Amino acid sequence: QLPPTDLFAAIQILKRELNAVILAHYYQEPDIQDVADYIGDSLGLSQQAATTPAAVIVFAGVHFMAETAKILNPGKRVLLPDLNAGCSLADSCPADAFATFKAAHPDHLVISYINCTAEIKAMSDIICTSANAVKIVRQIPLAQPIIFAPDRNLGRYVMQQTGREMLLWQGSCVVHETFSEKKLVQLQMAHPTATVIAHPECETAILRHASYIGSTTALLQYCLQSSQQSFIVATEPGIIHQMQKQAPHKQFIPAPPLNNCNCNECPFMRLNTLEKLYWTMKLGIPEITLAEPMRLAALRPIQRMLAMS
Ligand code: 13P
Ligand code: SF4
Repeated sequence: QLPPTDLFAAIQILKRELNAVILAHYYQEPDIQDVADYIGDSLGLSQQAATTPAAVIVFAGVHFMAETAKILNPGKRVLLPDLNAGCSLADSCPADAFATFKAAHPDHLVISYINCTAEIKAMSDIICTSANAVKIVRQIPLAQPIIFAPDRNLGRYVMQQTGREMLLWQGSCVVHETFSEKKLVQLQMAHPTATVIAHPECETAILRHASYIGSTTALLQYCLQSSQQSFIVATEPGIIHQMQKQAPHKQFIPAPPLNNCNCNECPFMRLNTLEKLYWTMKLGIPEITLAEPMRLAALRPIQRMLAMS
């Protein structure tokens, strides 16, 4: 069967028929952002998932995000256009190895970045996102040792901001580790009035050139509120669609990756397409499912995060 020619219109009809909400991350392709009901960072998306009155949640993002929505909504159908939309950061923290690591440090509180599997969430005390990691760590008593997983770059950034030591799991994001400091400096020289902004998943070599560091939503808000006219953006360039849409007179330049490639685009996020979104809604698959004991164990640290945010 062929898809309809006007996918936008067909998706709007299915949305009404299903009583569905489409939640999309800023790293989705522009067409998906344009058809979504809500576009946000991981924190905003989980807050939306926790409160939406819709019967079906269509998640245009990656697996851990849709899984988080299911953990918060056991009674709702949660659909993900492509089940292969994983995350290198989540993959860099296998459950068995993490269980051994955690067991070796039984006195540590485990704070995990939301970019991890339900198994890792179930082994965690508190979940955080890039938007609230610093705020959450600041609420933990100083005497309490902390394991921070899985992103070593976000972990290092939180350590700098809070001035506290944490034991870091050595995971990372393929997209945010691909930026080249040398090329960034060359780009700055070519655009001397441009302000560098960066996501905390970037390495220190990139972050040290940034005038502002924040989650995708925070980066967008910063650009909208800033009196500056030109920005070099060190995160997945999907966000530039929203920046350009909301500030058409400003200039947004993607930070350059190491090689001449599109490898600063997230290969997992970009597996979703408008056509796959249509078929997901039309056929009701693929659907996220989760065993109830695992869901309950993973829910507790997410609820702690939402309460502490
Ligand atoms: P935020 O959505 O918290 O900005 O994180 C970016 C990211 O890499 C999501 O996978
Ligand atoms: Fe995972 Fe990085 Fe893609 Fe975000 S950008 S989903 S952290 S691989």
